[in-house]
Amino acid sequence: MNVTHLYCSSCGKEYEARKLVNLCDCGKPLMVAYDLEGAAKTLTRDSLAGRLPTLWRYREVLPVENDENVLSLGEGMTPLIKAGRLGGQLGMTNLFIKDESLNPTGSFKARGMAVAVSMAKELGVKKLAVPSAGNAGGALAAYAAKAGLPAFIFMPNDTPAANIIECRQTGAHVTMIDGLITDCGKIVGERKQAEGWFDVSTLKEPYRVEGKKTMGYEVAEQMNWELPDVILYPTGGGTGLIGMWKAFDEMERMGWIGSRRPRMVTVQAEGCAPIVKAFAAGASSGADVPDAHTVASGLRVPKAVGDFIMLDILRKSGGTAVSVTDEELIAAVKEIGSAEGIFAAPEGAACLPALSQLLERGEVDRPERVVLFNTGAGVKYLEAFRPALERKSW
Ligand SMILES: Cc1ncc(COP(=O)(O)O)c(C=O)c1O
Ligand SMILES: [Zn+2]
Repeated sequence: MNVTHLYCSSCGKEYEARKLVNLCDCGKPLMVAYDLEGAAKTLTRDSLAGRLPTLWRYREVLPVENDENVLSLGEGMTPLIKAGRLGGQLGMTNLFIKDESLNPTGSFKARGMAVAVSMAKELGVKKLAVPSAGNAGGALAAYAAKAGLPAFIFMPNDTPAANIIECRQTGAHVTMIDGLITDCGKIVGERKQAEGWFDVSTLKEPYRVEGKKTMGYEVAEQMNWELPDVILYPTGGGTGLIGMWKAFDEMERMGWIGSRRPRMVTVQAEGCAPIVKAFAAGASSGADVPDAHTVASGLRVPKAVGDFIMLDILRKSGGTAVSVTDEELIAAVKEIGSAEGIFAAPEGAACLPALSQLLERGEVDRPERVVLFNTGAGVKYLEAFRPALERKSW
């Protein structure tokens, strides 16, 4: 295949490909480098028309060498839906929703885990472990099952029931923790050596980003190779944002797109908005949020290892970072649902009030081409709608 080596996102140190690694010696995330000239010999814009409607259509820029190790449940190639009615309500003519809820396990986490678990299998991993505030656990459990490998998943007590149940029903070992995702991460970190676990935490191994970057390839392909003006993305650990930015760079180097980039916008919940705070303060990394809280469990990430990469992307792209309240993001689920027929995850729905703020502030113009990422399925968060159930106000 076309992988040449791994490189550190911070100090630039290079590592041999095809060896199991987590972080760089300096503690920062590693990324995958490709021979893009080699990849572009067979992977062309035109060649895509005849390929499978999964993320494996971008095979030449994915790290798995042997086809036998590719684990697929149908991930990727989710629809990019023109949100005509929702756009109309906002006075917009070019609003789109990339609907990631249609992935296996109901979220975009399937992309990262499909590639990371395929690579883990290829590199001889015997046991996998992850801290998860929700959907990452479900996705790991599914692909680990497909690979025939045991998965050990550590989740905060307040994780939505659907995530806990799906992990158990797909055969994972689940441990509930009285704490935040960062506390779960510490446990995985402390025990992994003794237990023989490979840690597939966000950005602590190089391959989940590779799966997530395919969202960037798809948006380009689905918009006929003209990237949108603005992308709003609900951000926790930030793998998707980082991955899409990497995809844009790879596509430019293969001659598929020019140098114009979308303004990338991070959306977070007010109860846990370290990137929004760091962006506003002009800081290059985020401070830890001690009492992180939001019903959008995927956004409950008080400190992300890749925060410095995200902040750099937001600034380079001319984008920004916006926080919204839980009331706003829960209300947005119904607004999106009733206008477009998409039952969004609270994380994805958060993009709508964030867009409204940007329209009000004049930071997005109404005719611009804007893509909201609905990263998951609302049906996995029934507790978040419990007050509505109790009030019987649906
Ligand atoms: C539905 C949903 N949206 C967004 C996120 C945040 O994703 P990331 O950690 O890649 O920023 C998560 C993470 O769990 C999620 O489950
Ligand atoms: Zn380094």
